[in-house]
Amino acid sequence: MAVLPILVAPHPVLKQKAKPVAAVDARVAAFMNDMVETMYAANGIGLAAPQVGVLERIIVVDVHEKDQPRNPIRLANPEIIWSSEDKGPCEEGCLSVPEQYADVIRPVAVRVRYLDETNTRRELDADGMLATCLQHEIDHLNGVLFVDHLSLLKRNMILRKVQKQQKASA
Ligand code: NI
Repeated sequence: MAVLPILVAPHPVLKQKAKPVAAVDARVAAFMNDMVETMYAANGIGLAAPQVGVLERIIVVDVHEKDQPRNPIRLANPEIIWSSEDKGPCEEGCLSVPEQYADVIRPVAVRVRYLDETNTRRELDADGMLATCLQHEIDHLNGVLFVDHLSLLKRNMILRKVQKQQKASA
């Protein structure tokens, strides 16, 4: 397994649409493991392939409580097949928008269809933090960042802060 470098906004790859995988074969399964390792190394709760420069529809999430064991979920070609009419705000951050957080309003529950690491088709019902995280990561596959859900003013403010940070740490 390997920890991969994470792209930071406004990297152009983060704005591109990712392509479906034909099947979860050994290559994709190994890449999913690298993504899980990368997510943990960065203390994230989710990661999408475009964030490590790979334009394939693959995400990993783990929203386990701090006192609970790790519970990574690996998803290829995830699709939201149902979302609740009920929407609510949830504070989001993103490894590609480091150290910036904002409330985003999304459906509070979703059902996601996907292929797991064994190429088995599965469905997952999620609410709370997991629902938010899945929607955030699936957005990445469509070139959408959480800041794109905010007002232009707020978005630009956050992206400017990130650029400043990056310059300071470069
Ligand atoms: Ni993100």
